[in-house]
Amino acid sequence: MPHLGVNIDHVATIRQARGGVEPDPVWAAAEAELGGAACITVHLREDRRHIQDRDLQLLRQTVQVKLNLEMAVTDAMLDVACRVRPDQATFVPEGRQELTTEGGLAVAAQEEKITAAVKRLQKSGIVVSHFIDATPEEIEAAARTGAEAVEFHTGEYANAPEGAQRDRQLARVVAGAKQAQKLGLTVHAGHGLNYTNVRPVAAVAGMEELNIGHSIVSRAVFVGLREAVREMVRLIESPLA
Ligand code: PXP
Repeated sequence: MPHLGVNIDHVATIRQARGGVEPDPVWAAAEAELGGAACITVHLREDRRHIQDRDLQLLRQTVQVKLNLEMAVTDAMLDVACRVRPDQATFVPEGRQELTTEGGLAVAAQEEKITAAVKRLQKSGIVVSHFIDATPEEIEAAARTGAEAVEFHTGEYANAPEGAQRDRQLARVVAGAKQAQKLGLTVHAGHGLNYTNVRPVAAVAGMEELNIGHSIVSRAVFVGLREAVREMVRLIESPLA
């Protein structure tokens, strides 16, 4: 059964809408932990549109569970990661105009650069994961970089209509998880997961971590973050009929 990583970027998005101090993502992390999050995930984007450097520093000091930093593979971000030392770094592609991360990281196409980045973070004691599409080529490339984990992009699964198309996307994740495990990689998944589509992904054999943001923060508007996290943990832990 996977554990839940709660992505709190959107809490910072609301704060940045007014440029003030509330709501504070540091407070959100504590609430998420109290609701049962086993991991707090933040994406420090190059344009600093939501999470700020100050947030990351304070989260490093206050988060009691795993702290996972999503980051672009750039020298500037590698410097930040080595300074702050999150428990885990997840390499993601980053486009300036995108609303959210679109598509997985092209590991195979930039293997040398990514391998060097993995080594650099591992020297600082950081576990490295690659956010990739669950294709055989990318999984093999991810393993060759020496990373410990992969996070499969579940956006296509989440966007597919229920039925044959969604089943096909789930099958890709199932096959990818098998291949990744054989190569010694820990398997994570995330993007677009919500209260209605999470359980089949949680039930994938070998799945160890699910990173979920938008749906949990959206639900938190109505029930509070602690309860929204609790509800998601309950779903992840309830077996499929
Ligand atoms: N995992 C990664 C690597 C992501 O970039 C994101 C989005 O920031 C998520 C998980 C969470 O996606 P969502 O907000 O759709 O739950």
